[in-house]
Amino acid sequence: MARFLQGPFAPVTEELTAFHLPVTGQLPTELNGRYVRIGPNALGVDDPAAHHWMLGEGMVHGVRLRDGKAEWYRNRWVRSPMVREKLGETPPGQTQPFGSDFACNTHIIRHGGRLLAVQEDWPLPYELTEDLDTVGPLKYGGVPPGFNVSAHTKLDPITGDLHVVAYLTGVEQVQYIVVDPAGSVKHTVGVPLDGNPMMHDFALSQHHVILYDTPVVFSAQAAAAGSKVPFIWDPDRPARVGVLPRDGDHPRWFPIEPCFASHTLNAHDAGDTIVVDVVTLPAGFLVPELTAERWGALDRWTIDLTSGRVAQTRLDDRPQEFPRLNETFVSRPHRFGYTAETAALYEAYVLPGEPLPDAAFTNALIKHDLVQDRVETHHFGRNAAVGEAVFAAAGGPAEDDGYVMAYVHNPDRGAADLVILAAQDFGGGPVARVHLPGRVPLGLHGSWLPDGGTAGCG
Ligand SMILES: [Fe+2]
Repeated sequence: MARFLQGPFAPVTEELTAFHLPVTGQLPTELNGRYVRIGPNALGVDDPAAHHWMLGEGMVHGVRLRDGKAEWYRNRWVRSPMVREKLGETPPGQTQPFGSDFACNTHIIRHGGRLLAVQEDWPLPYELTEDLDTVGPLKYGGVPPGFNVSAHTKLDPITGDLHVVAYLTGVEQVQYIVVDPAGSVKHTVGVPLDGNPMMHDFALSQHHVILYDTPVVFSAQAAAAGSKVPFIWDPDRPARVGVLPRDGDHPRWFPIEPCFASHTLNAHDAGDTIVVDVVTLPAGFLVPELTAERWGALDRWTIDLTSGRVAQTRLDDRPQEFPRLNETFVSRPHRFGYTAETAALYEAYVLPGEPLPDAAFTNALIKHDLVQDRVETHHFGRNAAVGEAVFAAAGGPAEDDGYVMAYVHNPDRGAADLVILAAQDFGGGPVARVHLPGRVPLGLHGSWLPDGGTAGCG
C-alpha cells in the first residue's frame, strides 16, 4: 500500500554518519553501549500500491553512547546481494535467486558476540560489525535445511542460551532450536503442525517453551492471487498454545479463544501454571470488515497444566504493541513491562472513509506495573511517531532501575531524536534527547547492547 511509503513510514534514501551528536538534557554516564534498531526501508519499489510495510529491505539505525556523550549515529542498509546490486555496488545480474538474499528487516540481536539482523521464515540472518557494516549471511550448523534464526528469539539471562522457534512456509513443522553462548546449536526439535500458522513470536519460561498456533495461516491461494503478505485469518482453524518442556520433544496443546499473538512480554512458571503476558490482536487486524477492534492489547494467559485450561484476561485494553522488559527477567517472574502506542500504526490501517480511531492521535510509551496493577504513560506529540522502546539497566538491584529508550520523530526538526526516559520517573521529562541528523522511519525491533556484553535481544 502506498500508505506504507508515506509519512512516518516513508523510507530514507541516504546512509548517514554523524559524530558528536547534540544532546538536550544529560546523558547518564552509566549508559555505555549502542542502541540499534532495524526496520524495513524499501530500496526501489516496483508497485507502490501493493507495497506493504513489512517488505522493505532492512535498514539498521544505531547510536553509540559513552561517558555521557553520544559519539555517533549511523544508518545502514543490510548488504544482501540484492541490496548491493540496487545500490550499484555490484554489477547487475550477480545476485542469488530471490529467497536466499533478502536483507533481514525485523530484529537486531547480539549473541555469541555477533550482531545479527534477523527475520522469520526463510531469510538467513546477516552478521553486522559494531559500526553496522555487513559481514555477511550466517548459517548455523545443525539446523534442518531452510530453518534459520527467527525474528523473535529469547535469551536465557542465566544460561546465555539463545532460544529460537522457527517456521518455514511450505513445511508443516516448527523447529525449536537452542544455540549455546559460543554459537553452537545444542538442541533442535521439530514439532509437527497442520498447515502453516504464522509464529512471529513465542514465549519462554524457566522450564517450558510456549508455542502460538493461531488462525493466522499461510494461504497458497492468497499468494497465487498476488498478496505480498499471503497470510489469512482462517475462521475454521482452532487457536491453541503448545507447551513444550525445554528438554522435551512433544508439546501438550491447550485450546484458547481465537486471536493472534503478536509479541510476548514475558512468561514464567508458577507451580502447576505458566503465566504468559502477550500482546494479542483480534481477527479484525487481517479482516478489518469483521470488527472495528483490530488493534493489539496486552493480555495475560494463565495456562493451568492440571486442568488443561487457559485463563485469558486483559491487562490493558489500550491499543499498544512492542512489549519489552528488563531482559535479565526473561523467563522468570517480572513486575514491569513497557509498550508503545503509535498513532501512525492505527492511522495506516483505517479503512477508506472510516473515521480515525482515538488511538490514531496518540503517541506514547506505557510502563506497566503488573504487580500493583498500575500504568504510567509518557506522552509524545500528535506527529511524534514513537517506535518500540527498550530497557537499559543502570546496574542497581531494582527491576526498573534503568532507562527506557526509543526513536521518536521530532516534527520541529523533521528528524528523529533518541529519547531516554528514567524508568523510575516514567511520566517525567526525558533525561536526554539525542538529536539525530535525519529521520528514522517507523521501524520494528532493536536492542540495547551494553559495552562488555556479548548478548542482547528480546
Ligand atoms: Fe515483531
